[in-house]
Amino acid sequence: MANILILGGTQWLGRTLAELALARGDSVTCLARGESGTVPEGVEFIRSDRRSVIAYRDVQDRDWDAVIEVSWQPAWVEAAAKAIGERATHWTYVSSIAVYAAGMEPGADESAPLRPRLPSGSHADMKVYGEAKVSSERVTRDIVGDKLFAPRPGILAGPGDPTDRVSYWPARFHTAGAEPVLVPDTPDVNVRALDVRDLSHWILDSIVAGTTGPINAVGEDISFEDFIALARSVGGHTGDVVAATSQWLIHQGVQPNSGPRSLPWWLPEEGLGAAKQSSTGRTHLSGQGAIDAGMTRRRLRETLEDCLEDERVRGFDRDREAGLTRGEESFLIERWTTR
Ligand SMILES: NC(=O)c1ccc[n+]([C@@H]2O[C@H](COP(=O)([O-])OP(=O)(O)OC[C@H]3O[C@@H](n4cnc5c(N)ncnc54)[C@H](OP(=O)(O)O)[C@@H]3O)[C@@H](O)[C@H]2O)c1
Repeated sequence: MANILILGGTQWLGRTLAELALARGDSVTCLARGESGTVPEGVEFIRSDRRSVIAYRDVQDRDWDAVIEVSWQPAWVEAAAKAIGERATHWTYVSSIAVYAAGMEPGADESAPLRPRLPSGSHADMKVYGEAKVSSERVTRDIVGDKLFAPRPGILAGPGDPTDRVSYWPARFHTAGAEPVLVPDTPDVNVRALDVRDLSHWILDSIVAGTTGPINAVGEDISFEDFIALARSVGGHTGDVVAATSQWLIHQGVQPNSGPRSLPWWLPEEGLGAAKQSSTGRTHLSGQGAIDAGMTRRRLRETLEDCLEDERVRGFDRDREAGLTRGEESFLIERWTTR
């Protein structure tokens, strides 16, 4: 049984980690404001705002078998490591494959070149997410040294995903039934989704095993076409699949990957400027390190089935963070088929 401090714990991954750690018999403390959500019952909750200079007052004089940090604000990550680092036996910084510089060779491993660090103390926004992750990972290593474990996940999927990306597809196919569904025609694009629960189990196992260093953690490689077929099968869709080209979709103002008026998890190869930079190559990097270090992955079908159930519970008609509304989709299908 480990005594674990999670810096976070009210959002998706942090909360999943807390839940699974409790179920394993660990003692779990979470530090957050409590604005993103609640912590699971059984957790010791320390309400604290990390913008404050006394943010770690209630946790810094205690010993921790493990600390897990999920933030991507380098200044917060640095302050926490300075305040608590010496009292922790093992430190996990949840990094990301966004740390890698664009243009990686297929199969590249953890030694691939990283993006540059941000100047110390900067406040990061999503435009520099990758750089913020590099800075956070590096500053933690500078402070806590060899006890740092830095899993670098690719896109995560599973119940409770606040980004609404991967789960859009089984939900959309399910609700469409016999009606047509619009998909991007993306030959040669591969995707990988790692179940948030598989990542969480592996992080908790790594605490026990004393695993350290940066390790990529990605889902199984699958073509986007096969992913769509799988999501369609999970959703029980019987209607037409209307595949529009990336170029046409971009021209219609459909956003790639995430956000409103988007086709989620669509990573077009052409014409996307920054989005292209952020996706190219990373889908092909090696995920062998995590497998060698004991991570097990459930089948993607199981993840999608659980996503569908979660979508049902959360409400298929709720406002979504990513995807097309029914109206937007019907309009685009009509335009594409009568062009
Ligand atoms: N989603 C993906 O596909 C993906 C892929 C690769 C890596 N990742 C990484 O996975 C992790 C996701 O973690 P997550 O799901 O737990 O979400 P998160 O959005 O990283 O969680 C942020 C946590 O910080 C807390 N927080 C925010 N502002 C705060 C403040 N001022 N003071 C104190 N606490 C504050 C939030 O709680 P309160 O708001 O309640 O304070 C929340 O618990 C991140 O590290 C992300 O970079 C995600």
